[in-house]
Amino acid sequence: MIKHLVSAEDLDRDILEKLFDTTDSIKNNPKEYGACLDGKIVATIFFEPSTRTRLSFEAAALRLGARLISTENARDNSSGTKGESLEDTVTILAGYADAIVMRHYEDDSAMRAAKASLVPVINAGSGRQEHPTQAILDLYTLRECKGTIDGVSVAIMGDLLHGRTTHSLIKLLARYKNTKVYGYSVKGLGLPEGYTRFLAKAGVEYIVCKSFDEIPCNVGAIYQTRVQRERLADKSMSIDEFRIDAKAMSRMSKNTIVMHPLPRVDEISVDVDSDDRSVFFRQAHNGMYTRMALLKMMIGE
Ligand code: NCD
Repeated sequence: MIKHLVSAEDLDRDILEKLFDTTDSIKNNPKEYGACLDGKIVATIFFEPSTRTRLSFEAAALRLGARLISTENARDNSSGTKGESLEDTVTILAGYADAIVMRHYEDDSAMRAAKASLVPVINAGSGRQEHPTQAILDLYTLRECKGTIDGVSVAIMGDLLHGRTTHSLIKLLARYKNTKVYGYSVKGLGLPEGYTRFLAKAGVEYIVCKSFDEIPCNVGAIYQTRVQRERLADKSMSIDEFRIDAKAMSRMSKNTIVMHPLPRVDEISVDVDSDDRSVFFRQAHNGMYTRMALLKMMIGE
């Protein structure tokens, strides 16, 4: 198993399959795993807001029998406001805990933390760059719905510039055979060139769509994302043409699932929630189980 999880690139296909099998087993027999992390302490340190990621990590650690030390607003804490370096904060925390789950607003934060830490660091979102544990739960959900990931096509939509979840997802999809990615973004928020190059190098076809109608109706999954207004200078940007509603879904095949890392604002209309193809709430629930599997594999074996 890997020591740190900084980027989705740290995860090869073997590790992913083991993670998914462990997740299946935990979901089926949760009680068997209740003492896996007995005596361990997990630190969650978040320099950016989070609901699902932090709470699902904390629930995962608690369900495995670990204890927690946690800070929700690390940016406002002593280390953040007094100008302590990230490296110093992490060095100290590594003396208190057996693993550090960290979210930070800087792109290179997870890499820097991993370099400074003697205990495993898990990236829970680094600036606009990556969010590998979200990609694990996304892929697990895809696999659960489709039976396999090989040959799956995914249309990523919305804010592909700041959407760190899409960046990590792309990297994991590239681990599988014959996957295909369609990209439909809000103007000026397209997928950065580094990621289009990554896909080309990995032999994954990337097709840019100029309208929702250009996404094939039989695409395997639509992966909608939120426009990250907090990272934009112009906060008033309209996303009306990107909104997915029941009418938009009426064109898509019965096998096209709708995914979203959440939180959703209004880019998926609530009239899609009751559609059998909507799996965004299932993704969020799977997040706790995939994070249990990850913690077990990283510090419980
Ligand atoms: C995402 C994130 O923080 O990158 N949320 C999450 O962790 N599920 C997506 C977002 O904030 O839009």
